[in-house]
Amino acid sequence: MKIFLDSANLESIKKYNDMGLVDGITTNPTLLSKEKGDPEEIMGEIVRIVKGPISLEVISTDFMGMMAEGRRLAKFGKNVVVKIPMTADGLKAVRALRDEQIRTNVTLIFSANQALLAAKAGASYVSPFIGRLDDIGEIGMDVVGDIVKIFQNYKFDCQVLVASIRHPLHVIDAAKLGADVVTLPPDVLAKMIAHPLTDIGLARFLDDWKKISRSPSPKLTVPR
Ligand code: E4P
Repeated sequence: MKIFLDSANLESIKKYNDMGLVDGITTNPTLLSKEKGDPEEIMGEIVRIVKGPISLEVISTDFMGMMAEGRRLAKFGKNVVVKIPMTADGLKAVRALRDEQIRTNVTLIFSANQALLAAKAGASYVSPFIGRLDDIGEIGMDVVGDIVKIFQNYKFDCQVLVASIRHPLHVIDAAKLGADVVTLPPDVLAKMIAHPLTDIGLARFLDDWKKISRSPSPKLTVPR
């Protein structure tokens, strides 16, 4: 399963990219609005830092506007995937952009039917929003399971990108269902790295080392 970072924060992107954990990035206008600086420059910088697919979202809601924006965003780099909202005009733009070899990620998906239509239109990714479904008392992960099954049945060339992830259990559930990608807010990724028993175990190892060595750190010479 691929891990994307759901963030426009350059510091977090660099941090986790240096750990080799970031296969791609998803951004949206809300994430960009949280950052200081020109959004266009931030998007350009993200495209330069991460080699994998970078989802950049259009703001237009009409077909012609989405096409113009999609073409412009695609010029940021070869790894750009244009994020298009799940609307009738959006589906038309997905098909037209695909005909121009521009990849798309259909966002704001809340049902398996919407994902089926986006895949049929030619999207490279569909983004079901799990946390927002959970928020209204629906089981977001059930939608992911349905989409994965449908895409397998018909061998759609479209990846299931699980979005709106709120906690590490969402990641385990998405992985068990065979989703292609999860896009994670940096705090969820941080929680996946940490475990209290790791901290306790490390502290104990260091304490025990102090009991047997006069040197606080290991000698850096190679023993003969
Ligand atoms: C990613 O593509 C989505 O824009 C994002 O995961 C939405 O998450 P939210 O529901 O926490 O805003």
